[in-house]
Amino acid sequence: MLDFTGKVALVTGAGSVGEGWGNGKATAVLLARQGAQVCGVDLSAEALAATTAIMQAEAMGDRWLALTCNMTASEQVKRVVDQCLARFGRIDVLVNNVGGSAPGDPVSMPQEVWQAQLDLNLTTAFLACKHVLPVMEAQFDAGGTGGAIVNIGSVGSHSFQLGGRVSAGYAAAKAGLEAFGRSTAIAYVRKGIRVNTVVPGSMHTPLVEHRLVKQLGAADAAALIAKRHAAVPMGFMGDAWDVANAVAFLASDAARYITATQLIVDGGMTAARSA
Ligand SMILES: NC(=O)c1ccc[n+]([C@@H]2O[C@H](COP(=O)([O-])OP(=O)(O)OC[C@H]3O[C@@H](n4cnc5c(N)ncnc54)[C@H](O)[C@@H]3O)[C@@H](O)[C@H]2O)c1
Repeated sequence: MLDFTGKVALVTGAGSVGEGWGNGKATAVLLARQGAQVCGVDLSAEALAATTAIMQAEAMGDRWLALTCNMTASEQVKRVVDQCLARFGRIDVLVNNVGGSAPGDPVSMPQEVWQAQLDLNLTTAFLACKHVLPVMEAQFDAGGTGGAIVNIGSVGSHSFQLGGRVSAGYAAAKAGLEAFGRSTAIAYVRKGIRVNTVVPGSMHTPLVEHRLVKQLGAADAAALIAKRHAAVPMGFMGDAWDVANAVAFLASDAARYITATQLIVDGGMTAARSA
């Protein structure tokens, strides 16, 4: 078990699109279980309420702050950073988890959808970093530790297209997120701040039932899920805890010498496809 006692984590997209465990929700709960004070941000008050109920049921409510925010709006992001600081006094960990895919190639995808994909998957991380990096840098300049930032990418930006479909905006944005992470990591490498990206493969989060089944038009959700399991070399999709555990490691002091890199969490999918 990693120890986050005394650390403050800001996790974006800390709810989940449906019942069960999304990546941000599992990450927020895992960091809290390991001792962190956690500020969870989400667009959906309802999704956040479900995470709050878990925090309270596990007697972690006093170390939890839930804030609704549209992470694509700079002034709202600034507000949650200020509220997190007012409640907990510092920010040691930032998890840029907000994201989601929309299908389409450059011809089929309207420009508004393309722009919305870049905003959701890339600009959200940019804005969080814009407002959190000065906080972490000030902590470092004051003689303390700076911080750790973990982005959530996707193997969809490497080679794998979910269900065989093309999601050009998502792929571009998630590839950009990795590059943004490396670039920011080097910019802050002497300021006590590490930046890395976890790159999940095909994960069985509530998003599969709620969004992909609709997007892919699969009449039979069970068939789609079986297909997704079978497409993974390990023979099964990962889940939100596989992502959360990778995030926790990269955010922890155990990863103190790791920055500007990607941790692929995909059951062997990327290697099998490039073999
Ligand atoms: N599930 C997978 O198979 C998979 C695979 C690779 C990468 N990912 C990535 O993991 C991340 C989380 O995925 P998930 O499956 O847990 O999805 P999810 O939709 O369940 O969770 C995302 C949360 O973000 C919130 N959100 C959406 N837009 C927001 C905004 N503008 N501001 C604030 N909050 C907002 C949603 O309300 C939701 O609670 C995403 O970045 C996704 O691209 C997921």
